[in-house]
Amino acid sequence: MLQHYFGLVYLLAVSQLLSFTGSHADDECPLQLNPQRVVVKYGGSVSADCNTSIQHKGMGWEASEGAVPMSKDSLITWRVSELTEWDITPYCYINYNTDDQCIVTLPVTIYKTPDSVSISTVNHSGPMIEGNQYELQCDVLNVAPAQNLTVNWYKGQTLVDQSIFTDTIKTPVNKTSNLLIRPDRADDGAQYKCEAKLELGEGPQTPPTAPSEKLNIEVYYKPKHSSSIETISKTNDLTLNCTVKANPAPTYSWISDQLKNTISTPMLSSSKLSSGTYTCNATNSLGHGEKVFILTSTGSRPTFWTVLIFSQFLVASIMVT
Ligand SMILES: *[C@@H]1O[C@H](CO)[C@@H](O)[C@H](O)[C@H]1NC(C)=O
Ligand SMILES: *[C@@H]1O[C@H](CO)[C@@H](O)[C@H](O)[C@H]1NC(C)=O
Ligand SMILES: *[C@@H]1O[C@H](CO)[C@@H](O)[C@H](O)[C@H]1NC(C)=O
Ligand SMILES: *[C@@H]1O[C@H](CO)[C@@H](O)[C@H](O)[C@H]1NC(C)=O
Ligand SMILES: *[C@@H]1O[C@H](CO)[C@@H](O)[C@H](O)[C@H]1NC(C)=O
Ligand SMILES: *[C@@H]1O[C@H](CO)[C@@H](O)[C@H](O)[C@H]1NC(C)=O
Repeated sequence: MLQHYFGLVYLLAVSQLLSFTGSHADDECPLQLNPQRVVVKYGGSVSADCNTSIQHKGMGWEASEGAVPMSKDSLITWRVSELTEWDITPYCYINYNTDDQCIVTLPVTIYKTPDSVSISTVNHSGPMIEGNQYELQCDVLNVAPAQNLTVNWYKGQTLVDQSIFTDTIKTPVNKTSNLLIRPDRADDGAQYKCEAKLELGEGPQTPPTAPSEKLNIEVYYKPKHSSSIETISKTNDLTLNCTVKANPAPTYSWISDQLKNTISTPMLSSSKLSSGTYTCNATNSLGHGEKVFILTSTGSRPTFWTVLIFSQFLVASIMVT
């Protein structure tokens, strides 16, 4: 019995050594596992068959849960109805010929979906300022195995970043992922979220995922006009439109030699104004943007002809007198 034990330990060591050097030690062992590896949810049920087609003196499953004593059968099943051991390494062994013994290890991945996935802003609350850098954090609580965890970051529907973890620990851990952002005005109202995903390969059909709630960001930005100068003909009867997007909403002030008072509406109707230069100043807490409107009364043909005819008439009447 003691000899068997040492034989097994020796074989375990040799098989690990061989697998490190890339040799296929398992191929020579006349045992077949089905499936060859298992992925099981913590607390879930699991089973795997071990069979052989050769005559043997006994085979069995060694495992901290669900061990199968040595038997003369040619197919034995390792089965656990509620797997609650994080670090389990079941192996099937066989004794054959006079002195031959070998084992095949069943790789087991035990996973646990996180208790919670939450998103937050690091050391900041309230609106963000355009162009500044902020840090978002995703906290994934009580997940296993960390090695198979991916944290995906989304802005709206777009995947913007991913982090993976190299820890080889098998028991549940807390993991955080951070994302640095430098929002601009287009990001005002953007929704960020993170998502914990367990990439378990040939495990469950779709990788278990757990999303965080959504984090809405508000971005403060100053008024910036798309063009800073605009020429408008008075006769077009348009509006001088100074409206500009900004957060917080801007206030407006118009300055012109043609105006007696400052006007604080975003728009002026050109028909009520005399020609000249009008400067609009849109201001919010972050800064201001100016836009110059040049209101001209020239370039209108009917007016030009009217003036010409009228002045000729004037000249003629002067000559007559
Ligand atoms: C184990 O069983 C399967 C299916 O019955 C069979 O195809 C395979 O050859 C067997 N493996 C061994 C080593 O006997
Ligand atoms: C957050 O604030 C705390 C206390 O104010 C400080 O100790 C910590 O370094 C800050 N962390 C970052 C990432 O700025
Ligand atoms: C994970 O975080 C929770 C809450 O902060 C804590 O109760 C738990 O002990 C942590 N788990 C580990 C493995 O550190
Ligand atoms: C878990 O991740 C490791 C490292 O990326 C990978 O080798 C392994 O195949 C994964 N496990 C499963 C069950 O897919
Ligand atoms: C004024 O300009 C803003 C921004 O360009 C635009 O959304 C709005 O429709 C304009 N208003 C008028 C009356 O033209
Ligand atoms: C526009 O308003 C800002 C803030 O009130 C002020 O600093 C700036 O001088 C103003 N610009 C003009 C042309 O009046």
